[in-house]
Amino acid sequence: MNARIPLLLCVWTFLSFQEIQASIRLWASEVTNFSTQHNSGSHSAKQVLGKPNVYPRYTESPGTWAQLGNQLDRVHFIEVKFPRKLYVSKINIYETYNAGAVVKISVKDGQNQWVDIFSVNHARIIRRARKFSPQIKRFIIPVDELRIEVDCSVARDYVEIDAVEIVGDICPSPFFQIGNSCYLIKKDTVSADEAFARCLLIGGYLANFETLEETMLMKDKLIKMSTKISYFVGGRNINRKKQGGDWRWIKNGTMTQMKYFAFGTGEPNGTDQSPEDCLMFYAAKAYAFNDANCRIKNGGYICEIQNM
Ligand SMILES: *[C@@H]1O[C@H](CO)[C@@H](O)[C@H](O)[C@H]1NC(C)=O
Ligand SMILES: *[C@@H]1O[C@H](CO)[C@@H](O)[C@H](O)[C@H]1NC(C)=O
Ligand SMILES: *[C@@H]1O[C@H](CO)[C@@H](O)[C@H](O)[C@H]1NC(C)=O
Repeated sequence: MNARIPLLLCVWTFLSFQEIQASIRLWASEVTNFSTQHNSGSHSAKQVLGKPNVYPRYTESPGTWAQLGNQLDRVHFIEVKFPRKLYVSKINIYETYNAGAVVKISVKDGQNQWVDIFSVNHARIIRRARKFSPQIKRFIIPVDELRIEVDCSVARDYVEIDAVEIVGDICPSPFFQIGNSCYLIKKDTVSADEAFARCLLIGGYLANFETLEETMLMKDKLIKMSTKISYFVGGRNINRKKQGGDWRWIKNGTMTQMKYFAFGTGEPNGTDQSPEDCLMFYAAKAYAFNDANCRIKNGGYICEIQNM
């Protein structure tokens, strides 16, 4: 057999099961504070905003943030905000003069306090332009504000920062985005009741599809994944006595009435004697909705997490 086939299979498997999620990149869009600025124009704090205009050149140049000329013996800071919150996986600081001076990076946490995510004891002097991307852990909180400290005292000269960029996602890992929601599709076979509990344990809930649009996007995704597994979601019938039932989306103590009909033909078919009060995307009917017994292990499940 051609030795390349297993390799290709591996690559294919990786690509199809790994959620290929294009991360979002954002440039700083607002300066919220700074220690000093060289002037209020060409070398002002605001010059860090937007994409680089000096990088990859290494030069003392207008279009960057530089500090006050008589205070180059100390650590300076700048605080910047981004257009929206992201679960950040990468930070890029574009240094275009006396690179290597970043000694601390902090982010605002949920309580509005600065938390350090990078720090070194000493600045270095690197005489070339640098896109500085320090090792950071993936954030478990969404972030839209950074504080950067630069130590000018080693170079005893201006430290020029051209731009600041964050790279991240709208959904916290391992959840991924479909439409405007964050989901996690699990293939292990469980009952609907177990699925309900498992989603809670990871900080989410069994997925709600309040609109037909959300349902269609997920259905399309499941058809493409082609796992042949049915998946439980967070719909429940709360009235067996009623013809067709009374289906609700359950989320954190609220029950939203299901406002559209997306069941397969002949469904729902549960009865008072043979109850099927839990909802699943049913593989055998091209992922139309199906009512299923809540206690029988016969599906994977889809969790959702409240997005920002
Ligand atoms: C801006 O920074 C200065 C100097 O550290 C500080 O005194 C001031 O409180 C800061 N302003 C805001 C709004 O955070
Ligand atoms: C769940 O509901 C409670 C009370 O209504 C609320 O305080 C809490 O923030 C909600 N949790 C989520 C994840 O929406
Ligand atoms: C409902 O229909 C499904 C086939 O789609 C079948 O497997 C199930 O046994 C039926 N349930 C009842 C209570 O008749």
